[in-house]
Amino acid sequence: MNKKELIDALSPGTDPAPFFALADKVRRDNVGDGVHVRGLIEFSNTCRRNCRYCGIRAGNPKVRRYRLTKEEILACARTAVSLNYRTVVMQSGEDPAWSPRDVIPVLEAVKKETGLAITLSIGEHSREEYKALRAAGADRFLLRFETSDRELFKALKPDSDYDRRFACLAWLKEAGFQVGSGVMAGLPGQTLESLADDILLFKKLDLDMVGIGPFIPNPDTPLAGSAGGTLDLGLRMVALTRIVTVNTHIPATTAMGTLHPQGRQRALQCGANVLMPNISPVEHRVDYSLYPGKICVSDAADKCAGCVDAMLKSLGRTRAEGYGHSLKNAPKG
Ligand code: 5AD
Ligand code: FES
Repeated sequence: MNKKELIDALSPGTDPAPFFALADKVRRDNVGDGVHVRGLIEFSNTCRRNCRYCGIRAGNPKVRRYRLTKEEILACARTAVSLNYRTVVMQSGEDPAWSPRDVIPVLEAVKKETGLAITLSIGEHSREEYKALRAAGADRFLLRFETSDRELFKALKPDSDYDRRFACLAWLKEAGFQVGSGVMAGLPGQTLESLADDILLFKKLDLDMVGIGPFIPNPDTPLAGSAGGTLDLGLRMVALTRIVTVNTHIPATTAMGTLHPQGRQRALQCGANVLMPNISPVEHRVDYSLYPGKICVSDAADKCAGCVDAMLKSLGRTRAEGYGHSLKNAPKG
């Protein structure tokens, strides 16, 4: 699809049903009916940055900051094993006390003890640090570029640099990571044209994974009064991303489920093939509030697993076999 076709498909006046159906078929034909389940460990909500949309920004004094210890992270990884998850996603703010150097011994311990695939989501670091993390055994890395619109990026991430963000994505790829990126949909000032550019950029960057969620305004941030994204726009973005990128791994995000009780289910029916249930300790979940109303904050990991399996059953889908590595360089069939 070209840019004009994408803009048209994103427009509220266009009936999405035909391309939702096409996205579902592209998903089935290229990544199958299996859904990869990744256990999410939010191991620190401390962050040095001040993204205007994000609840754990450094400038939000209301956040009760926490850091899990190495032992607590290992305990989460054991939970993942017990629930038959094959991947853990270790996510944090850009916490100077959990630098790549500090993360390395933990991921080595997780790898050695559990053999799980490890995805990191810990923000912007140097080329050398990315290489070291990869050498230590991390398999994948998530770093959303948030928006392809340079001006909007600058307005929303005042202490980040647009070009450096994309340099980070190139370094991650060079270091041998399977790389995921993505955006929020419905940001203040974001146009359909820039969302179409986002999708074309997913393709150009040849990503292994693409995460898309609606922007949900957080009352404790500068964007408190903004409108926020809709489920409809989020689903259109997921569907078009599937059609354009074909065999990427695309999660039905928690933000999608927060906006609507059937949000994740709907995403799985129009292109998504991944779920990322939370396996963080329940006592810290409310403190990792990027946006308000986040689902599952008081559910123990095993309840989320039950929920996931019930959801898959209701959709006629199953958990996927294996680690769920990238399909980019895998032989088709
Ligand atoms: N609404 C929706 N998504 C958000 N994120 C951060 N803040 C919000 C918000 N208010 C997303 C960003 C980030 C990911 C971890 O969470 O896209 O990359
Ligand atoms: Fe932490 Fe944006 S607020 S990276």
